[in-house]
Amino acid sequence: MSIPAGERLLSGETRVAGVVGRPVRHSLSPLIHSAWIAAAGLDAVYAPFPIPEDGFPRFVEGMRGGVVRGVNVTVPFKEDALTLADESDLLARRSGAANILLFHEDGRIEARNTDGPGMLQALAEVPGLDLQAGPVVVLGAGGAARGAGAALVAAEVAELRLVNRTWSKAAGLSEAFPRTYPFAWEDMAKAFDGAVAVINATAAGLGGQDPLAGLPLDALPPEAVVMDMVYKPLETELLRAARASGRRTVDGLSMLVNQAIPSFEAFYGRPPPPEPDVRGLCLQRLEPPA
Ligand code: ATR
Repeated sequence: MSIPAGERLLSGETRVAGVVGRPVRHSLSPLIHSAWIAAAGLDAVYAPFPIPEDGFPRFVEGMRGGVVRGVNVTVPFKEDALTLADESDLLARRSGAANILLFHEDGRIEARNTDGPGMLQALAEVPGLDLQAGPVVVLGAGGAARGAGAALVAAEVAELRLVNRTWSKAAGLSEAFPRTYPFAWEDMAKAFDGAVAVINATAAGLGGQDPLAGLPLDALPPEAVVMDMVYKPLETELLRAARASGRRTVDGLSMLVNQAIPSFEAFYGRPPPPEPDVRGLCLQRLEPPA
């Protein structure tokens, strides 16, 4: 049974965590974690921390010592989070970014990355999709694409194909990973040939701006899965076109919820409860009923 927030006991043993980003007010993480905290009846809070643009290093240093257990880190601080931490997991280092900072009681600051595992888990929920059965295509060569690539390589995909508007960035990033090949934007159809999945890790379509349209989806096998990391809007132009072509799709909200699960465990020492349906709660926030 969930305990109304006002009646929850904050005892002084309260586990405090939160999210830091800029802007942070649109983050869905407080909604997700607070719903889990309430459902599990934990003596815990999850707060959004708004900080000034140049305030991230001071914020991180000020957290040293573990009064706040940890924070999720979002745009634009994910790369800095890795740099400022004392230690980090392999995936954070390979991604060049961290979405979790843990503030240990002995003063250590640890960086982790659960964005990549969240993406893999979102794809794992598609019945029958085997990422090792054929090439996986990532669109983009920025920070998000690097994180996606690091996770896919760790998952031992057969082949990774990076397609980017700026060819030189795809070429540069492909050198960071084994079995990875760059493709020019104009050669997207070649990259799609035989692929088991396509993941949009570009910023295109974010907030409804400049959506990815007119991609050569016909070049993809019919059983290929199309994923978009963008979740505002939830159904991007890419996902709409993929669905219209009969292909299965995975949206960015699925990735967001799946990165939150290991985050919750890291902050509060237990897995989140199965209820409530946090995806449903997020959908209400993203697309409130008219
Ligand atoms: P992030 O950290 O979100 O990945 P980033 O590092 O700035 O942000 O990278 C943005 C990515 O989105 C890049 O791959 C960029 O392509 P370029 O390298 O050619 O700039 C890609 N991108 C942004 N807008 C795009 C658009 N309208 N069409 C295609 N790619 C786009």
